[in-house]
Amino acid sequence: MKYLKFSDGDEMPMLGLGTFQIASDEVYKVIRTAINIGYRHFDCAAAYGNEKEIGNALSDAIKDGEVNREELWITSKLWNSCHLIKDVVPSLQKSLDDLQFDYLDLYLIHWPVAFKPGIAFPSQKEDYLTEQEAPLIDTWTGIEECLDEELTKHIGVSNCNIGVLKKLQAEGTLEPEVNQVELHPYLPQQGLYDYCRLNNIHLTAYAPLGATGRPDRVRKDRDPHLLSEHLIVEIAEKHQCSPAQVLIAWGLSRKTAVIPKSTNPGRMKENFEAQNIRLDREDLRKLIILPKHRFFDGSIFTTNGSPYKLTDLWEY
Ligand code: A2P
Repeated sequence: MKYLKFSDGDEMPMLGLGTFQIASDEVYKVIRTAINIGYRHFDCAAAYGNEKEIGNALSDAIKDGEVNREELWITSKLWNSCHLIKDVVPSLQKSLDDLQFDYLDLYLIHWPVAFKPGIAFPSQKEDYLTEQEAPLIDTWTGIEECLDEELTKHIGVSNCNIGVLKKLQAEGTLEPEVNQVELHPYLPQQGLYDYCRLNNIHLTAYAPLGATGRPDRVRKDRDPHLLSEHLIVEIAEKHQCSPAQVLIAWGLSRKTAVIPKSTNPGRMKENFEAQNIRLDREDLRKLIILPKHRFFDGSIFTTNGSPYKLTDLWEY
């Protein structure tokens, strides 16, 4: 396993398991299987609604001597309805209670978009808090508090563009150590990628396989299908591996963490073994010409009277 190193020497396994959309009645078994395959990095979030069951699985795996806490890398994320500074530490505490740990390895702000407390998902203007009502820098101060209270070892953000990162870097006491964003050959985000590398901000790639199982609310009719993209299939044939393995190897070759989600033991194993595949320069060069596409464009947070605009989210 390869690792991404933090300034204090801590190391995050580059290949992890995404847990978005794993049903709570299924996730226990998935996590136990993942531990047996060798996964040690688990990407969680309060909004995924399955942290309790993930906690049960991890705690049983530890009790059964399959793994210890120090070997695990556990990430969780602050949901958009908890951006007010008073809600940040209690939200992390709730995730810790559910996960049955006394610290996280990494805590992220899930989206730079704030909802009113208690609103799981907004349907009207009144459900949002504006940037003036809930400045992201105040939320970041809450995240810094989590670190001060030793509830998490590392802190970062998700779905943040260069402008948002610059603001947090300039106004925060501490800088984000990680930015978790959608990354795959349809969306290499080269500008953001270069900025993060220059600024020692690790990137984690979500939806690395093109999120074929994403919810209907983020599905559009003409979305392309990354796993069956001709060039990806061609490279897979050349390396005698699967298209999913090419995509994971692509992310790892860029020195980003990669968190494919699967609930199928065979595919989980296949994905884990992608760390043994090395793409060559020619493969990487070929992939540059793929058309660009973002699957999670955030438009679910910029409609219905939302005070947030797509241009606040992405540098198009
Ligand atoms: P499943 O859970 O049935 O394996 P992403 O990580 O980009 O969000 O993609 C997750 C989707 O990709 C899920 O629908 C998952 O389905 C599917 N998937 C995961 N691993 C593979 C694989 N090796 N080959 C094909 N599809 C996969």
